[in-house]
Amino acid sequence: MHFSLLVFACVLCGSTLALNNGLMRTPPMGWLAWERFRCDIDCQNDPKNCISENLFMDMADRLSEDGWRELGYVYINIDDCWSSMERDENGRLQPDPKRFPGGIHKLARYMHDRGLKLGIYGDMGTHTCGGYPGTTLDKIQIDAQTFADWEVDMFKFDGCYSNATEQEQGYPLMSKALNATGRPIGYSCSWPAYVGGLPPKVNYTQLGEICNLWRNYDDIQDSWDSVLNIIDWFFDNQDALQPAAGPGRWNDPDMLIIGDFGLSLDQSRSQMALWSIMAAPLFMSNDLRTISSGAQSILQNKIAIGINQDAMGMAGRRILKEKSGIEVFWRPLSNNASALVFFSRRTDMPYRYTSSLRQLNFTTGSYKIIDVFTGKMASLKDSTDFVVSVNPSGVVMWYVSAPARMNLNHLRRGQEAHRVAEENFIPYVFL
Ligand SMILES: *[C@@H]1O[C@H](CO)[C@@H](O)[C@H](O)[C@H]1NC(C)=O
Ligand SMILES: *[C@@H]1O[C@H](CO)[C@@H](O)[C@H](O)[C@H]1NC(C)=O
Ligand SMILES: *[C@@H]1O[C@H](CO)[C@@H](O)[C@H](O)[C@H]1NC(C)=O
Ligand SMILES: *[C@@H]1O[C@H](CO)[C@@H](O)[C@H](O)[C@H]1NC(C)=O
Ligand SMILES: *[C@@H]1O[C@H](CO)[C@@H](O)[C@H](O)[C@H]1NC(C)=O
Repeated sequence: MHFSLLVFACVLCGSTLALNNGLMRTPPMGWLAWERFRCDIDCQNDPKNCISENLFMDMADRLSEDGWRELGYVYINIDDCWSSMERDENGRLQPDPKRFPGGIHKLARYMHDRGLKLGIYGDMGTHTCGGYPGTTLDKIQIDAQTFADWEVDMFKFDGCYSNATEQEQGYPLMSKALNATGRPIGYSCSWPAYVGGLPPKVNYTQLGEICNLWRNYDDIQDSWDSVLNIIDWFFDNQDALQPAAGPGRWNDPDMLIIGDFGLSLDQSRSQMALWSIMAAPLFMSNDLRTISSGAQSILQNKIAIGINQDAMGMAGRRILKEKSGIEVFWRPLSNNASALVFFSRRTDMPYRYTSSLRQLNFTTGSYKIIDVFTGKMASLKDSTDFVVSVNPSGVVMWYVSAPARMNLNHLRRGQEAHRVAEENFIPYVFL
């Protein structure tokens, strides 16, 4: 299919119904505790890393003081293991009193005072995955109201210790219960991940109507293997998954592990680039107190974030899988622009990949290119061959502007105009 047609088809995809809370018209961004800090509740021996209000306040300070908030990273999300082992005398969930002495409401205020938002975690069924009190069907209303009373802004509903029948009832019920509180609360559903992530077991039309985002697949771990496994699953199943995303309704391939221990800088750029192509939520799970400047600059790349946050909200696709191990991904953006990612699965050395925009089905015209990670700019005609050098397990990512119309008057004006036209025939090499 020609890309300009695909963009037009999106007029239809934009009209798909999304959850009616007005939230997350672009993918949510922020920080989530789980991958990096898990269920570390040992505050005595590991005070810096334990799941406590100090950890979340530290991360809030970093988000608001180190330039993250201004870029859109505004959610601070608590995951499992925050609660007490017992509900209170009114049957309400309560935080562990030693680790959260100020309570969740005070923590939410701490976030709001800094222009941030607070997310919290719960689990349908008898227990959370970590063994804390779960939310059985009869507790859905009271738990939704508790979170609203605490002024929480987002809620992730996991699904350990529930079965498919309960999930079918519980996920829509929680959506209604959150709505009934009157507080706009972003709703993240783990439902599809528990039933294989694909139709016919998953009805993505329904999910888009009841949830703002959903985990489709396995938990991410701190390794390149895990990232690659997630990339492969999402793009192998893009026909089912890509159309499910749109403003207010997002596939969630799980957290960014950039800044942790498992990824090289090239692999970090690959995760940032492909999460942006997928229009994925950008929840970092790392230690913002000690993050390297290299990882920070990848996570704070304004062009990559701009692509991720594009207002049209259409997710991208893998468009080519070459025998050489190069894969090409494309995402249409507002104003007829788009993003391209050249990704290398090779394990030998940087690979020089040759193509042209015409070969990639771009319409005739002259395009402005910005290399997302080097900031280099160039103009490129659709017919001009280019070469990109892609590192092993790395990417080259481009923002591609709308094609400029050919201006015939310029061509008639002679010498100078000729030079401009000819420039476009120089093969561009981005190294
Ligand atoms: C609840 O749903 C109604 C209608 O579906 C919507 O208009 C309203 O904004 C929602 N309220 C919240 C707080 O999500
Ligand atoms: C699912 O769980 C509920 C509540 O525990 C139980 O009543 C029901 O029998 C279970 N259904 C299946 C199919 O296991
Ligand atoms: C999926 O959900 C939508 C919206 O709730 C519904 O109209 C449709 O019938 C469902 N599709 C299937 C195959 O169940
Ligand atoms: C996008 O391209 C279409 C068709 O090529 C054109 O009609 C439309 O004006 C363009 N939109 C913008 C914002 O440039
Ligand atoms: C370009 O379009 C042709 C014809 O529709 C199609 O066969 C080919 O796969 C497309 N190429 C890419 C890179 O999308």
